[in-house]
Amino acid sequence: MQSSFRFINALKRQPVDSTPVWFMRQAGRYLPEYRAIRERVGGFLGMCKNPEIACEITLQPLQRFDLDAAIIFSDILTIPDAMGLGLHFKANEGPHFERPIRDKAAVERLAIPDMESDLGYVMQAIRLVSHECRHRVPLIGFCGSPWTVATYMVEGQSSRHFSVIKSMMYDEPETLSALLSKITQASCLYLQAQIANGAQAVMIFDTWGGILSPQSYQRFSLSYMQEIVHYLKSRAQTVEIPIILFTKQGGQWLENIAATGCDAIGIDWTVDMAKARQRVGHQVALQGNLDPAVLYAEPKQIEANVKTVLTEYGSGSGHIFNLGHGIYPDVSPDNVKAMIEAVRRYSPAFHSKGNEHGSL
Ligand code: CP3
Repeated sequence: MQSSFRFINALKRQPVDSTPVWFMRQAGRYLPEYRAIRERVGGFLGMCKNPEIACEITLQPLQRFDLDAAIIFSDILTIPDAMGLGLHFKANEGPHFERPIRDKAAVERLAIPDMESDLGYVMQAIRLVSHECRHRVPLIGFCGSPWTVATYMVEGQSSRHFSVIKSMMYDEPETLSALLSKITQASCLYLQAQIANGAQAVMIFDTWGGILSPQSYQRFSLSYMQEIVHYLKSRAQTVEIPIILFTKQGGQWLENIAATGCDAIGIDWTVDMAKARQRVGHQVALQGNLDPAVLYAEPKQIEANVKTVLTEYGSGSGHIFNLGHGIYPDVSPDNVKAMIEAVRRYSPAFHSKGNEHGSL
């Protein structure tokens, strides 16, 4: 059945009038109105945990721009925070855990959080946003991939060489697998609850899958994302909800990612859209993939680069325009506007009559 939203239709590769557009981190520091709230309220995590504030921030980019989707303002580290690891965000340093997970005993002590009591603030924020915008644009729920979330839980913070988690992966693969299983279990319940509370599509962010060897990627990242996909696709309440998997630097594994049964793959700017479509476009929709650094350039260049991405994908549905990764915090909102307007201006030609099913 056709949805009234072009974002949902494009995810299902059904005809649309123009290419839908939203972008990762669309609610964030590049917006002066976001910085103003952060100044007033204080830390990032405090903003995530206040449902009214999280709702207001989620809606900020939609008030400014003509976007086709909202994404709930939250973070992938809410699950380990709810597991009791003691999460703090230090200004300009990113996340820190007071009690990182380093051994089997620590993994065994981890409890699966309760979605309404421990993560109720996320559900409440989703209900509020849903109430405000579910008839205007669809709301995207999300979680991190178990592997990506585990990198922060084990390293305790952002990392350069991932030495601690990679030592665990090679020396004690069973410990890592046990940890990944627990995060997977929590993530299944988390996405299911987000959908029950109003999320109309979900996305799994695998920011660090691309640092793995092909064998390790399959075993320690993709197989757990696949479990989440199977969980959601085997339940009546969640089976219709489109799932987007995004492995940054995962371009060489598009076929494997498509084989999980997800609806769409997020791709970064290191991948040629035309080639990606040839490889997996008959199976899944593709989301991406403008280099976020293009937004530092003049509007004319932004427009030209948007056209390139649209042309690479070509005619027909199945493309969701996005950046190849999150927007950088020092980008001008005017340049974002230029990007969105270019998608609006140039994309309808790729969906004109006779072209709805694409020319692969
Ligand atoms: O896309 C959106 O607008 C939704 C909100 C969202 C945030 N984080 C808000 C945020 C989403 C989807 C995320 C996902 C997330 N969080 C990922 C995966 C996606 C990615 O970007 O790779 C990761 C790895 C995290 C963990 C995380 N959160 C880190 C490493 C950091 C610090 C680095 C940084 O960008 O500052 C955060 C903080 C964070 N998450 C901010 C925002 C808006 C910045 C907070 C602030 O200082 O105001």
